[in-house]
Parts: sequence; structure tokens; C-alpha cells
Amino acid sequence: MYCTKKITEDLVWVGANDRRLAMFEGVYAVPDGVSYNSYLLKDEKTVLFDTVDAAVGPLFFENIAHELGGRALDYAVIHHMEPDHAATLDGLLLHYPDVTVVCSQKIKNMIGQFFDFGDKIRYQIVAEGDVLETGRHSLTFVMAPMVHWPEVMVSFDTTTGTLFSADAFGAFGALNGAIFADEVDFWRDYLDEARRYYTNIVGKYGPQVQALLKKAAGLDIKMICPLHGFVWREEIGRFVEYYDKWSRYEPEEAGVVIPYASVYGHTEIAAEILSSRLREKGIKTVMYDVSVTHASYIIAAIFRWSHAVFASTTYNAGVFVSMEELLMDLKAHNIQNRTVAFIENGSWAPTSGRLMKELVSGCKNMRILDETLTLKSALKEAQLAEIDALAEAIAASFAPAPAAEEAPKKKVWVCSVCGYEHEYDGDELPADFRCPLCKRGPEFFKVKEA
Ligand code: FEO
Repeated sequence: MYCTKKITEDLVWVGANDRRLAMFEGVYAVPDGVSYNSYLLKDEKTVLFDTVDAAVGPLFFENIAHELGGRALDYAVIHHMEPDHAATLDGLLLHYPDVTVVCSQKIKNMIGQFFDFGDKIRYQIVAEGDVLETGRHSLTFVMAPMVHWPEVMVSFDTTTGTLFSADAFGAFGALNGAIFADEVDFWRDYLDEARRYYTNIVGKYGPQVQALLKKAAGLDIKMICPLHGFVWREEIGRFVEYYDKWSRYEPEEAGVVIPYASVYGHTEIAAEILSSRLREKGIKTVMYDVSVTHASYIIAAIFRWSHAVFASTTYNAGVFVSMEELLMDLKAHNIQNRTVAFIENGSWAPTSGRLMKELVSGCKNMRILDETLTLKSALKEAQLAEIDALAEAIAASFAPAPAAEEAPKKKVWVCSVCGYEHEYDGDELPADFRCPLCKRGPEFFKVKEA
């Protein structure tokens, strides 16, 4: 049986939902499921946009067959080769051996890495700005490297103003019978999972998302069809604003996230009292036990809020294991521009504060408050004044920081292929320099304009 959703007269969703998947990418719990979106354009030529994860392959092929109604499948546009979208490409070629796969050279190379199709596949290779006419519709291809893999491209139907955005503008969560974001209360019920999806899946690549947003700003977008989550046809600008903030690493709101690691509860009670003191000052707070809540939720929260206080016991002379993992994960996701403070605990040699500070110092533009609270085993009545002082310092930090003497800015070189930014003050990058993301040499870099 099939289950498709009409989007416009010519466009239909032929994807599927997965509510059995425990861990997306083997890392991220998806308690509300996930959708794998694929779209079929029924024009004079038929065009499929991406395939789906292997887990939902049978329904996907039923959907395509039903919607084609005996017509041939002329084109399959492949935007992204991650297997949650491309794993069923081999099945597609078995069902539709005459289909022409439309993709970039990079995607073709990656198809060769995942599959052994040999010459049993027909390609139409496209580059930035190339156009595919399908009858009433005209598709323009735009490269979007590192949103979320290096080969990613998006396509824009200039006839209808529809952006097929690959992973961008996606969200965790099954669609539950709806297809458009405006059919549900997205801001109340789905924004948190959209944020968790963005920050954990694409969050590391803010500059590359900014590059895509700049390209998108030149398009008259009336609809966005992502590879996960809802199709957007209303309030597109509002969702784009969130993407703009997230990819610039700007907090959405003023408030304090307090992730804590506490073996016997002594560090936790200090965090509780701090949270209470901050609330008394009218400051919003949210607390997480890092041993209970998965890092993906805490990372999303730290992208949302302006401040974080990390509270951890010392463990094996280091930072408690789940807190250390969180901080390393934060660095890996490129978090920047936050104000942070620390609470450390240790019964004989509290070192977690210094070590957490070292880990956080690896992130860009972090303002670290001096008032680290040190506990030796348990908080004592006499130390409540120190918690008050820490709360006071955090409250004071919400006021704009006094103008510091600005450090001389370094020259920033931007890779024209993938958007990677590299700080280097010389007039030319060294000849042996290579972009760590796309491996291009110095000839592909330009100095970023101020
Ligand atoms: Fe949904 Fe990067 O794959």
C-alpha cells in the first residue's frame, strides 16, 4: 500500500516516516521519529528528488509506483549522499533502470564510493547555476558544500519558487499525517526538535550555512522542501531567522543553562541553589543532569541561551566523564559567543574547574567569568555568600560588557568552494596550505571583506 501527500498540482511527497529508529546516525535519540522526505515532480518529464533510508524502502517504492501510474521515471536528482537519503538508490535503479541521475561531479564520485553500479547508471552532471528544463518547470542547481557533507547541493524550481534544500531547514520528528509546517503548531510543538536537529547535525558548519543563506537571499523562495521534517510555505522568513541566528552562533534568548555532573548530589545542590538565586534576580534558567540527559539536548539548549554554568565533580583527577564528553562535543559543534562560569567539586584535589575552563577556552569568543565556585566534598553554609557572588557576577554579565580594548583582527581567508574560514595574516596563504574540509589549495581562498 502507498501513502503519499500532495504538495502542489505537480509535486507530491513520496517519502516515509520511521518511528522505530532508536538512534539517528547512531547517536541522536529520536523519540518522536523522523521523516525521510523524497519528492516527485510530475511534469512533462518526471523528476524524483532524492531517495530514502533503507528502513523505509518498501513503502517508498510503492509510493513512487503509485504516483507515476505507469509513467517512466525520467530523472532522479540526488542532492546529498548520506545514506539516510541515498541508501535506496540501488533499489531505484533496479526499479527504473532507464532513469538519468542528475548530480554534481562530487556526488557522482561519492555514488562510486557507496555503490558498484559500473556503467549501469546514466548521469547528467550539473554544476553551479546549471538548469534542467522539465516542461513547465525549470530547475536551477546550487552547490551547498558542508550543509551537511561536502557534496551537498540544493535545487530551485524557478517556476514555483520551490527550494529543495537537502538537510537545511529540516527537523527531527515524524510528520504524523501532516506535510506543511503551517498544518501544525510548529513553534510550540516542533521548534525544539528542529533546533536539536540543526545544532547537532549541521551546527558545526555555521559559515557554510551562512554561505547558503546568502545564496538563498537572492532567490524568490515561496516554498522549502527539506529532506527531513515539514514543507514550508508560510512563515518561511521566521524559520530562516532561526537558521541565521544558529549559524552565526548567536543566542536566541538571555538565560542560563546549568549542566551539572554530580555523583552523590553535592555538586547538584550547589547548582540548584545558584539556579534559585538567578531566578530570584529574574533570570531564566534551565538545568540538566549530564549523566541523564543526552548531550544533543544540552547542546541545543546552549545554542538557544546566552549563558552556561558548567558544574562538575572531579573524577579520576579529571572532569567527570559525561561532563567532559559534553564539553568536547560542544567544541566539536563549534559553539561560540557565550558567557560561561564554573562550579567545581573535589574531596582532595578539585581540578575540574581548571580543566573545564581549558576545554571551553578552545571555543571561539567565550567570555569566562572569574568567579569559579570551589566545593570540597559538600557545600557549607559559609559558602552561600560565594554562590550569591557568582549569581551577582552572572547577573552583571547580562549588561553589555565594558568596551575592551579591541584586539587587532586577523585577516580571514574564505574557501570559495566550501566556505571554510581560516585566519592568517600574511599576504598569501602558504603554497602547501589545504582546506581541511574540501582539500582545495590556496588558489581557492579569498580574503573576507570586513
Ligand atoms: Fe539527513 Fe546529512 O543527512
